[in-house]
Amino acid sequence: MNDNTGRISRRDFGKVSAAAGFAALTARAARAETNVDTLRVGLIGCGGQGTNNITSFLQGNENVQVIALADTFEDRLNSCRERLEGHDNPQVAGQTNIDDAHCFVGLDAYQQLLETDVDVVLQATPPYATARHIEAIIDAGKHIFSEKPIAVDPVGVRRVMAAADKAEEQGLSFVAGTQRRHAIDYIETIKQIQDGAIGDIVAMRAHWRGGIPFALEHEEGWSDLEWRIRSWIPHNWTSGANIVEQHIHNIDVMNWVKGDHPTSVVASGGRAWLPDEDRYGDIWDNFSCEYEYADGTRMFSFSRWWPRDAAGGVFEEVMGSEGVSNCRDMAESGVDPYVQEQINLVKSIRNEGPYINEGRQVAESTLTAMMGRMSAYTGQRVSWEEALESDLSLDPGELDWDRDYPVPPVPSPAD
Ligand SMILES: NC(=O)c1ccc[n+]([C@@H]2O[C@H](COP(=O)([O-])OP(=O)(O)OC[C@H]3O[C@@H](n4cnc5c(N)ncnc54)[C@H](O)[C@@H]3O)[C@@H](O)[C@H]2O)c1
Repeated sequence: MNDNTGRISRRDFGKVSAAAGFAALTARAARAETNVDTLRVGLIGCGGQGTNNITSFLQGNENVQVIALADTFEDRLNSCRERLEGHDNPQVAGQTNIDDAHCFVGLDAYQQLLETDVDVVLQATPPYATARHIEAIIDAGKHIFSEKPIAVDPVGVRRVMAAADKAEEQGLSFVAGTQRRHAIDYIETIKQIQDGAIGDIVAMRAHWRGGIPFALEHEEGWSDLEWRIRSWIPHNWTSGANIVEQHIHNIDVMNWVKGDHPTSVVASGGRAWLPDEDRYGDIWDNFSCEYEYADGTRMFSFSRWWPRDAAGGVFEEVMGSEGVSNCRDMAESGVDPYVQEQINLVKSIRNEGPYINEGRQVAESTLTAMMGRMSAYTGQRVSWEEALESDLSLDPGELDWDRDYPVPPVPSPAD
């Protein structure tokens, strides 16, 4: 039975998931057999994080090979390829086997990569393209690792939720770039918090206070679209703004602790210092949100991209009736979580570990961050259902090198 939000009730979910679970198990067993030998991986989005992710994938796993790369820009693709081929870790360089015919450049490069015989795809473009790419990767029957956030608007979130369900039906593994979920200190501490180690949860805090990663000048020879894509951070339609793009990490931990998403949020913020110039886009540079969960627990979230910020401004904190935790203080840290998440992905694909599908979870955390932005930009309290059902789309229409993508007005709660 669906409730009025379109979600399946918990009781019915058991029936659906039992049937879907059997189908998924069968599908996974079939896929595991096809992957007993070398697992072929491709990368979409060959920038800083994509290169790091593929390096972690190769470093953490054996009998894997990166065979294909896709990026809008040749220079980004080439520098990634050079870093992998010349890597000083022999396991990374030795498992790199990319030929020219498997290097794809342009706006449709991701589609060309999906036509190759890769088994698994790592997706690490800026967020504007992520939902579309996740959908295409799963439609192509490939296992997936996708960077967070998975979308910049609710329309994109719903696309990913549907794609994640499809992955489950097909037995495709789906790991998300919320790497704290693969960090042993977080895993152990959050388990203890949930078991009552600091008593009842009274309130929670999450901060991301840091500088703006970049806002590039328009270089000669770049079309307008090339500029927007290369300098994707300061635009709502390309990054989702700081709260969605980076603070999602901390918000995701809060949802994890609660085992749920918030029911509503009221938020404020503004554009305190970003110059009123095309180069600095239309994002706000600070957000303060009060989220409420179903049991009344409040979570205070604070995120900003300001210059000269104090160090140590990125954290999560849970205040309990019998103590306080930063969500990782009850256990030692272990393997680098960026490597561990790629190990866990491969184990899931090979049926050597639990099946992982983090698609819904990262979609919910993306929407949680997004509803904070929506509340701040409109001045309205936003409920989970309103965010989930919202038709808000930041898609600027077809991507075309010959078209301009003018910066929209900075959002105002007075509009
Ligand atoms: N999990 C983490 O800790 C972490 C850290 C950094 C970045 N990230 C995430 O990784 C993603 C990428 O960030 P980055 O820092 O690597 O940015 P980046 O600008 O260094 O790299 C993005 C790459 O994607 C390419 N690209 C853009 N649009 C594309 C398209 N349509 N098709 C193919 N390629 C395209 C760009 O040319 C560029 O090479 C973002 O979603 C970001 O949030 C996650």
